[in-house]
Parts: sequence; C-alpha cells; structure tokens
Amino acid sequence: MSQYLKEQILKLKKEKNAIILAHYYQVGEIQDIADFVGDSFELSRKAKENSADIIVFCGVRFMAESAKVLSPNKTVLLPVKEAGCPMADMAEVEQVLNMKKEHPNAKVVTYVNSSVEVKAVSDICCTSSNAIKIVNKIDANEIIFIPDKNLGSYVQEQVPNKKIVLWNGHCCVHDRITADNVLRSKEDNPKLKVLVHPECKSEVRNLADYIGSTSGIINFAKESQDNEFLIVTEEGVLHKLEKENQGKEFTGIRGMTCKNMKKTTLEDVYACLEEMKYEINIDEAVRKKAANALENMLILGSD
Ligand code: 13P
Ligand code: SF4
Repeated sequence: MSQYLKEQILKLKKEKNAIILAHYYQVGEIQDIADFVGDSFELSRKAKENSADIIVFCGVRFMAESAKVLSPNKTVLLPVKEAGCPMADMAEVEQVLNMKKEHPNAKVVTYVNSSVEVKAVSDICCTSSNAIKIVNKIDANEIIFIPDKNLGSYVQEQVPNKKIVLWNGHCCVHDRITADNVLRSKEDNPKLKVLVHPECKSEVRNLADYIGSTSGIINFAKESQDNEFLIVTEEGVLHKLEKENQGKEFTGIRGMTCKNMKKTTLEDVYACLEEMKYEINIDEAVRKKAANALENMLILGSD
C-alpha cells in the first residue's frame, strides 16, 4: 500500500510540477519521499530558489507561511491544516509592539518559529543555525529576541557585548528536557557525545559537546571521529543519522516527539496534491513586511 501511495504521489507531483519540502522532524517515510529535507534555514532558502509551481510543505504552519512569503507566486500547500508550532503562538503582535515601545533603541530579531504577523513587525528573522551570526552582524546593541527564551539566552552567552531582551516563549518538546535526563544516559554510557539543539535549557546546553540546528547536529555526527552520540532534539533527526552513518550509534531522549510534526502522513500528502489543500494565503501588506524580515535573514544569515 505504502509503495503504491508513494508512486501515486510521485506521479501527481510530476504532473503538477510540484516540489515536496520536508523538515527533519517529519516521519521517515515523508523524509524519504521529499525532494529536499533540511533545517528551517535551508528550507527557507529552498522555498525561494526552485522552479516548481507548487510547494508541498511537510512541516508545521510557520514553515509553510515562510515559503509563501518568500515565493508569493507559487501555490504553497500544508498537508495538515492543524500542524502548528505551539512556540509560534507564544508571541502576539500587540505584545511585540508594546515591547518595542519599552525599548525604543532595540532591534527585533524574530526566530522563524513565529507567526507571519509577528515577522511583519520585526527587523529581521533568524533560525537556530544563524541566530548568533545575525545578532553579531545587526546594527544595534540592544536586541529584542522573540519568542524562544532558550535560544535567546544561548545567543546572549555567545554575544556578551550586546544586550538581549528575552521573550517568555519556549518549545514544549525541548524545554522539558533536564540535565538529569542527559546525565542518566551518560551514566549508562559515558562515551556518548552529547549533541544538543539550542532550544534546550542552559542546564542541558552546558552538558553538550556540540550545540546546533538539526542540520548542524547531522553534519557534526557525520564528520565526527566518535561513534556514539546522544541526540538531544526531536527524534525525527534519528532517521537520517541512522540511514547515513553505518557503524555509528545514536541514542535519543525518550519523549522528544513533536506531535505537530508527526501529524503528516503519506495519505495526507497524496490528498494534498490531489485536492490542492490546504493552501496558504497571506494578506499582501503583511506578506511584504514579513518578506523584508525574512529576506534580511537570507542576506545576513548566509555564509
Ligand atoms: P531547525 O531550524 O534546527 O531545523 O529547528 C526547527 C525547529 O522547529 C526546532 O524545534
Ligand atoms: Fe515547534 Fe518545538 Fe515542534 Fe519545533 S519541536 S515545531 S519548536 S513545537
């Protein structure tokens, strides 16, 4: 059944000149059928630079919205309407505007895990792979960092000469992990190298051998001379790690599952292409302003 479904998806994709983009937290069979799998930054770049008419975005809503912002002439489809990111819902425009009033000299750096409306009132966006670079390069000494307090505090540690005003948002999957969770795994196997996503709390980051985005973690493990790793991010990244690193062993942390990322199935992708649902539409005035923040990220955040 699954093989038949995959063939049907590939056929429809070709007929409609569509491209399937997937995040590393998607289930394995979605990653396997995608044209491109990446971290949030790579996916934004790919959404802008491709010649398809339709983008099927297998991820969560803010990712599909960013694709539409960057590629307004393409049809962008999110296979599961309810696939959201709870952290993106932790910042609202009104609150951001109030914070801006309290800090008139600050620039607003907004993590892409945010609504398109919040991006529209931001100076620049960032992802976990380029947040440090962007805060370093941006022309301001005071930064309002929205919405992830953990990524924001990590950036503050790395860029001590600037003042970061933190927002009180977090990712429920990463924020609940404690130092104890990591130390227990290390007790069982002291040789484990600990690879951590910066959405984790500082007590967890302090135990890391490497801190980075999903792609950063995957690349670090691939290049490393070590063979055993504890992966402290959403379990979806284990799919590529295990597929492409034979002879290396990867241990995840129990319960690190993003329910929203796991909502998309092959059936949803097929229905999405067949019925052209669920299309992302954004008010043009909001889109233009959000595009400014995302384009600024693509310029400042690239190597
Ligand atoms: P990356 O940008 O590292 O892929 O992370 C996205 C995300 O949602 C992390 O929870
Ligand atoms: Fe949002 Fe966390 Fe899921 Fe990433 S892992 S999409 S930040 S809820």
